[in-house]
Amino acid sequence: MSDSPRVITVDRPKKHYTLIRNANGDFLGIDSEPGIFKEADDRVIWEASDKGFIHVLSGTELMATDATDANTLLEYQGHLLGADAKTCDDGALFGIGHGPADLPSSSLQTLRERGWVCLPSVLSPDIVEALEKVSCTGAYDHEKYDSQKLPLLEDVAVARSATEPVSLWIIRQYMQTDEVRLAHPPGFSILPKDDGKCDVQGWHSDFPYLWGIGGKHKFAENRIPEHSVDGLVLGVQRNVCVSDFTRNNGATIFKLGSHDRGEAPPREWGNGAAYFEQGYRAKHGLPYGGSDADLIEAPSGSIIVYDARIWHRAGVNYTEKKRAAVLQAVIPMYIMPFFDTSKAYKEFISGPLLDELDEHERAELDSVMVNRMGPVAVTTDPELTRGAIAPGEY
Ligand SMILES: [Fe+2]
Repeated sequence: MSDSPRVITVDRPKKHYTLIRNANGDFLGIDSEPGIFKEADDRVIWEASDKGFIHVLSGTELMATDATDANTLLEYQGHLLGADAKTCDDGALFGIGHGPADLPSSSLQTLRERGWVCLPSVLSPDIVEALEKVSCTGAYDHEKYDSQKLPLLEDVAVARSATEPVSLWIIRQYMQTDEVRLAHPPGFSILPKDDGKCDVQGWHSDFPYLWGIGGKHKFAENRIPEHSVDGLVLGVQRNVCVSDFTRNNGATIFKLGSHDRGEAPPREWGNGAAYFEQGYRAKHGLPYGGSDADLIEAPSGSIIVYDARIWHRAGVNYTEKKRAAVLQAVIPMYIMPFFDTSKAYKEFISGPLLDELDEHERAELDSVMVNRMGPVAVTTDPELTRGAIAPGEY
């Protein structure tokens, strides 16, 4: 048996579709007639043409007039479009932005069929560069990352990665609910060059299942009991590749298809519980990484969305440069989050970065970071917590 995982390489796309937004950040699309949509499904996907933009589903072409690189007036059947997508005399400026490489419905179908999908380089290059800067990777590799800082407060690109619209649409469809939440504030996973003995992550399923991390983990022992698989999905993971993810720099290693088994990864593969023990790797070597496992290579700016039950572990970085990702566990509203996201969210909305988000992004960030009981926000109570866990952990 080979001692290397099977490698699946997702290439950097040669072209991307276009998303067109009004001043609120909502999407221009067509559903028999031009309209404004809150969701990034197939109805809002456009292709750039010589004269403007072609609506992919309907083939309808809009003419772009007075275009700059980023903003333009749009003409439909000889009339300008207003911000509400109705024809009018004056017209409104629309923002032209980086879109996905694949139709959202196609990515959703892949996620449903395989339990994972990669949206290759779905984040624009400027967002990726900002994330590199915050994580001290890429061109900023020589800088030192301060893990005490909350990424959300460092650059608006972190909030933009959390509100990326195509991944949110497919996640909502996959979990069969519009009400999805982040289970923790977005956090970086930064992997430096391996020294051959440092502690590493063992095989596990992600939040809320946490299969394979049970036993020694302070929060949970198989947080969701192992159970036979049905149509209900209790969590997906959204990993944003800040760096290119390669076989050499620590791309995540999966056991693809394992979400259908309804059980924890085999102990003999070296699970998360075993590898929590300090020095375990130095004594026992790396967890399983042979040909029964799969490594997904993906270009920077990609978002890998996978069913949280899929067994996986972090890869090993053999290169000199650090590899970064933004990790986001996403859950339906009826699952208790891992950490309280409201503190980070409140700090964000009282800070200067809020002004950089448009209304659509603000509403999305609110919806994924504030848990509600009916109309009331649910948050932690420091008094009732009474030192049950250390300050800063809730
Ligand atoms: Fe994980």
